[in-house]
Amino acid sequence: MSIHWFPGHMAKARRQIEEKLKQVDIVIELLDARLPLASRNPMIDEITGHKPRLVLFTKGDMADETTTNDWISYFTGIGVSVLPIDAKTGKGVPKIAATCEKILEPLFVTRQKKGIVSKRMRAMVLGIPNVGKSSLINRLAGRHATQTGDRPGVTKAQQWIRVGKKLELLDTPGILWPKFEDPDVGMRLAMSGAIKEDILPTEEVALHTLKYISHRYPKLLAERYAVEITDQTPVELLDEIGKKRGCLMRGGEIDWDKAADIVMGDLRSGRLGRVSLETPSDYEEIVDEEND
Ligand code: G4P
Repeated sequence: MSIHWFPGHMAKARRQIEEKLKQVDIVIELLDARLPLASRNPMIDEITGHKPRLVLFTKGDMADETTTNDWISYFTGIGVSVLPIDAKTGKGVPKIAATCEKILEPLFVTRQKKGIVSKRMRAMVLGIPNVGKSSLINRLAGRHATQTGDRPGVTKAQQWIRVGKKLELLDTPGILWPKFEDPDVGMRLAMSGAIKEDILPTEEVALHTLKYISHRYPKLLAERYAVEITDQTPVELLDEIGKKRGCLMRGGEIDWDKAADIVMGDLRSGRLGRVSLETPSDYEEIVDEEND
């Protein structure tokens, strides 16, 4: 999906979300488990206000498990309920309805006081492009999904997908824009594939990727490309990988574009292995630096 986010687009996206918010009891916010803070929209709290929220970590199958657990502790520590899921295989997905019910318990108590005993819950999915919104909605819709919007008297535009007995989900997600201001965050988003390559060139992203992975996951690089990780520069590493993979131009020079494509393809498809692109301590370091 190619979206260029200009201020006008952001304002429109926000309006659309605010319109949908009026119809739901809970927001299901999708974050990429490999970069949960970078994939979080900076204005999410402002946009969703006090609406109860469940955070789902998508693509947990591609992230390093230890770091994902650190992130879950981090979010739990700031009072946010997190559920890791794999929208591709459906792992974790059956827990969504019950977790929403738990979060909405206070709402049910309020409703009961007003004489409403129904525990029906309405939810919407929110997240930046490519985080897995459609995959999740399709999975939740499944074969047995009832499109309640098909009932007479319910407008066609307003489709609700029934998930289990109590949860109804809006069939179109809210699309949020990613953060662009902080160059490090932008680079992580580009590494994950969330930002289009015409904004950041592949070669530059690949060099950053090699710098990061050779530092944090050197074994994965060594295994995938049969290279020895010593103290090479990212440029030297890309060169070696290009040579190993036969990315040569006429005249025998290394084709960097091709080598960069291989590295990025391997990272984004998970062929390189499970890689998290940020940890909670990365953010602590930033705060520490700012306080020095
Ligand atoms: P969006 O609606 O938020 O824009 O995202 P979408 O569901 O289209 O997902 C974007 C890509 O991420 C898709 O891959 C999708 O399969 C993949 N994806 C979503 N959730 C998960 C997850 O939990 N784990 C893994 N491993 N991948 C996930 P694609 O390459 O664009 O398409 P395809 O591989 O499905 O053909």
